[in-house]
Amino acid sequence: MNQTNKIFDYPGDFERLLREIAKNTGLNLVGYRDSYLKRRIGVRIKANRLNSYDEYIDFLKKNPSEYAKLLDRLTVNVTEFFRNPSTFEAFKRKVLPAFKSKRDIRIWSAGCASGEEPYSIAITISEFFGKELERHFVKIYATDIDSTCLARAVKGEYEAKKIVNIDDETLNRYFTRVGKKFVVKPEIKNMVFFEKQDILKRRWVNFFDVVFCRNVAIYFSRDSLEILYKNLYDSLRSGGFLITGKVESITGNIKKYFEVVDNREHIYRAVK
Ligand SMILES: C[S@@+](CC[C@H](N)C(=O)[O-])C[C@H]1O[C@@H](n2cnc3c(N)ncnc32)[C@H](O)[C@@H]1O
Repeated sequence: MNQTNKIFDYPGDFERLLREIAKNTGLNLVGYRDSYLKRRIGVRIKANRLNSYDEYIDFLKKNPSEYAKLLDRLTVNVTEFFRNPSTFEAFKRKVLPAFKSKRDIRIWSAGCASGEEPYSIAITISEFFGKELERHFVKIYATDIDSTCLARAVKGEYEAKKIVNIDDETLNRYFTRVGKKFVVKPEIKNMVFFEKQDILKRRWVNFFDVVFCRNVAIYFSRDSLEILYKNLYDSLRSGGFLITGKVESITGNIKKYFEVVDNREHIYRAVK
């Protein structure tokens, strides 16, 4: 039985472990803060009564099923419907009016976890446009690096206790009750397209009208934050909006190319 909480970190072992994880899971952890990774990986090392990164590499080789538990620890998927409701209010008041006469509206929920965020965006849009919605072609791209989470998002089924910040009328309008679960109705589901994607890899250029990237950047290292916000800026059309989490703010040189729309709700506009 292990007597100490210390995890022995012989030179190069931690980096070797990260390479093993990348090779076996596809999750590239280079961009994450070391302190964050060490804390989370440490939990799994201790749970298996091991003492060093080296021992853990051996353990993973002999017990590949451990990878699933490790990934569960590494990616924090905490989310909820209408997380920070005031942000969705501001989205409705300060962002959506800009698209009243735009036919195609493209939105990206970057780091969408189990789908609550993109479905909340779809519901807000549906509420905002009402009958006028049929005059628009709305596409919400929802991406995450965690496949297990994405599979849940695609299903769009949520236990009653997971449904928060939604009044009964809205719930009945946009969800169908099936046993103990609520299922997102097809008209909302059909607006959302899920895909596995690493935010740190540049993919879209001048494409989106609005990007939500909330509560994802908190885990990234300084260098990755620069890459992240540059990618998000590039992905936006000129004048497109970026919405970050309440505890996040734009980092790096790119900051000067965003103007603030709402300081409290962390809504910015890309100047191009
Ligand atoms: C805490 S959740 C936030 C979910 C939602 N945006 C919200 O604010 O409620 C963070 C999500 O970011 C995802 N994530 C972390 N690193 C990522 C990356 N490099 N690319 C894409 N998604 C990533 C995680 O898998 C997780 O589902």
